[in-house]
Amino acid sequence: MEQREHWSSRKAFILAAIGSAIGLGNIWRFPFKCYENGGGAFLVAYLIAMLTAGIPLLIMELSLGHRFKLAAPLSFRKIGKKFEWVGWWAVFVGFVIVCYYAVVMAWGLNYSVFSFTQAWGTDTGTFFYKDFLGLTDGPYKLGGFQLPILISLIIGWIIIVGAVWKGVKTVSKVVYVTVFLPWLLLVVFVVRGMTLPGSMEGIKYYLYPHFEQLLNPSVWISAYGQIFYSLSIGFGIMIAYSSFLKKDAEIINSSIIITLSNCTTSFIGGFAVFGALGYYAQLQGVAVESVLKGGPGLAFATYPTIINNLPFARFFGIIFFLMLLTLAIDSAFSLLEAVASSMRDKLGWGIKRSNITVAAIACVIGLIFTTGAGLFWLDIVDKWIEFFGLCAVVLVECIVLGWFFKIDKLRKYANEYSEVRIGKFWNYLIKFIVPIIIFALIISETVKLITKGYEGYPASALLIAGWGVVILLPIVSMIFAKINRKEAIPDSEVIVPKTPFVENLGYKRLTRYLFSILALAVVMTIIMILSNYIDSLKSIIVPAIGIYFFLVLVGGAVYFTIISVKEGKRREIWSRESFEE
Ligand code: PHE
Repeated sequence: MEQREHWSSRKAFILAAIGSAIGLGNIWRFPFKCYENGGGAFLVAYLIAMLTAGIPLLIMELSLGHRFKLAAPLSFRKIGKKFEWVGWWAVFVGFVIVCYYAVVMAWGLNYSVFSFTQAWGTDTGTFFYKDFLGLTDGPYKLGGFQLPILISLIIGWIIIVGAVWKGVKTVSKVVYVTVFLPWLLLVVFVVRGMTLPGSMEGIKYYLYPHFEQLLNPSVWISAYGQIFYSLSIGFGIMIAYSSFLKKDAEIINSSIIITLSNCTTSFIGGFAVFGALGYYAQLQGVAVESVLKGGPGLAFATYPTIINNLPFARFFGIIFFLMLLTLAIDSAFSLLEAVASSMRDKLGWGIKRSNITVAAIACVIGLIFTTGAGLFWLDIVDKWIEFFGLCAVVLVECIVLGWFFKIDKLRKYANEYSEVRIGKFWNYLIKFIVPIIIFALIISETVKLITKGYEGYPASALLIAGWGVVILLPIVSMIFAKINRKEAIPDSEVIVPKTPFVENLGYKRLTRYLFSILALAVVMTIIMILSNYIDSLKSIIVPAIGIYFFLVLVGGAVYFTIISVKEGKRREIWSRESFEE
């Protein structure tokens, strides 16, 4: 049995996980979810979702991968033979996503080229939908392949496979570019967006809190849905990634750093998007709410118009699409890695064989999205897979781990290794709270989709690409779980360090952070209440909300990163002493 590959360093692992989490969703989904669901009030729901579900579930997935050193399917098999399919299910949901995620990446590739000449012209909407996508009248009118997209799709896949060529060894290097570059470019866009005339009008839409919205269940549903999707939980990615960790790896603080970095990026990205939209509205002489639109339309139709109107348009065009590409690529290859590493574990394939096979199949399936009807199918699959793929998998994961596995043991296991410790409350989150929330989420969304349909698509299309796909996946997973593995599954004996890394200090670190958030929240609440009586306070609501979330997210990320840096030296010594034979 060959040795399992390893990350080249802790930093490389954290960056890869951050890279997977940060993707197109941070730029074109998050800000709009925020606006649609009550602005600053949504941020409150999002923060609570992050604390009660995001961080706890990430800890769960990372601990599981680290504990068994296997990708999702066989990790679940270790819990119980009958659970292997759950792992496959997660992985296949990811597989479906990567089939169309790569197509969106291909659009980005095309647009990167267009940006040299601003080939999109002045009527950017018509260019995107009609000329570029060749959009037909409905999902059944395929209208032929769009050649430029098809070619970029193939190029895109070659890039993705290249990024994971020698497995995590290559990824360990690639992520320094695919994480830091988009961050840098995003900062450029935040500064540019915020300094445009009219930008403040846009920001107000983003942050102004409509607290009455917190009584609306759909706001909470959006917040939790966005957290799962954004953190790449429930696709087997994080389980696969953590299975490549060394035996002495840190788990809990890493999860917190990954989560906070991701949420910070979303939050900050919102300023770039809304600043620019405020400007766009002023340009068109219309109210901000009439230009608010997320998704592909934002990136490929609205943004090009904004770019056209900027000084140095070519420069901003090029870096904008470069940003989108680099945002997407590490999410895409993390999905590939989750599927390919599962194949390796199960079928004993080599790295290259598994990567190329999975990529080729995904590329062929992706062809449907390069036709004139591609956007319709993409839209439907995306919607269904998010709710009934992603959320259902997370629900089942929680149930399996919470009820059929000694979840408290997993908690203690993670605590032994970590700089930050979690208390018993985590068990309850996994066992009860998160599953109940997701259950409610799925039920309410099902009712909505059944009664209202979706975007006026024909019911048969929803049946095929929506319900059909989500029902097929668990069935295929069960078949896959039945395939016999040639070799015996490597043993995953629990290696427990002789001494835990920290004792009570670990709990204190977490509570210190939570209490600071809470204390700040109390101050914020007082400001909000007083603003009802003191008019001059009204003008500071938006800045106060901005500062609060900045402190909670960025401050938190800095706090936990400092802990990990400071502990670096001591960790080395500890790991030498605690794991010696
Ligand atoms: N988390 C990524 C985003 O926000 C998307 C993604 C989903 C990546 C699923 C991997 C898996 O865009």
